[in-house]
Amino acid sequence: MESIFELKAIQMFIDTCHQSWLKGWNERNGGNMSYRMTEEEAASVRPFLNEKTQPRPIGLRVENLANEYFIVTGSGKFYKNILREPENNICVIRVDETGENYRIVWGLAEGGVPTSELPTHLLNHSIKKERTNGQYRVIMHAHPANTVALTFLLPLEDKAFTRNIWEMITECPIVFPAGIGVLPWMVCGSSDIAYATGEKIKKYDAVIWSHHGIFCAGPDFDTTFGLMDTIEKSAEILIKVMSCGGKKQFITPEQILALSEPYHVDIDAQMLS
Ligand code: 13P
Ligand code: ZN
Repeated sequence: MESIFELKAIQMFIDTCHQSWLKGWNERNGGNMSYRMTEEEAASVRPFLNEKTQPRPIGLRVENLANEYFIVTGSGKFYKNILREPENNICVIRVDETGENYRIVWGLAEGGVPTSELPTHLLNHSIKKERTNGQYRVIMHAHPANTVALTFLLPLEDKAFTRNIWEMITECPIVFPAGIGVLPWMVCGSSDIAYATGEKIKKYDAVIWSHHGIFCAGPDFDTTFGLMDTIEKSAEILIKVMSCGGKKQFITPEQILALSEPYHVDIDAQMLS
């Protein structure tokens, strides 16, 4: 390997950030993304890393992520520039052996630090790693407009959001059969929002932050991006339906639950009770 950009995970990371920008989900520096590298990926890029940089505190402890490497967006860096200048806008970090500190080992060449939401990303990686036997590797946070708009209109409850969003596209309960979590407005970048999101992410792959954005977790870039895309499209349909005077007919709870068997998913019936 002659350049870190030959690594497929780096290419996918950059491309996914750019697709998210093209979707309009990342105004200015809005949103952030992280990817937990495999051991093989980390080994293959080691010649390009500087492991002797200054350690910095994460702000919480993620023991099961000790010595793991992550690709992360930079704080305050504009999504629009990631494709053109990835080395200045994203970085690779390594969590230390205690799980309490990290080092920037590549990237942010013109200076900077990882996203201000790093505590939330790492805590939620830690939870998903444990709950999925290491399968989940991607976390995306963004500000998709229709999803945020709904937080001014619907009750801020998991059930209300799940049911309303499920009802807008038949595929929704198949794509996220456990539903969606919702948090009230909170100060972003804090360990409070990290822990609150962590509680929800134990059950869901998507958590809406009221009047702010959405936070999605998944095994790979396409699945995680696809989850956010599906939720945002459904939210857009709901906003259109509401703007046109509201639903005149709808998919019934029985019809939603009838999707479980043919699609081999476990749609949570409690969301519809
Ligand atoms: P960062 O630029 O620090 O990633 O913050 C953007 C954001 O969306 C905070 O929630
Ligand atoms: Zn945000």
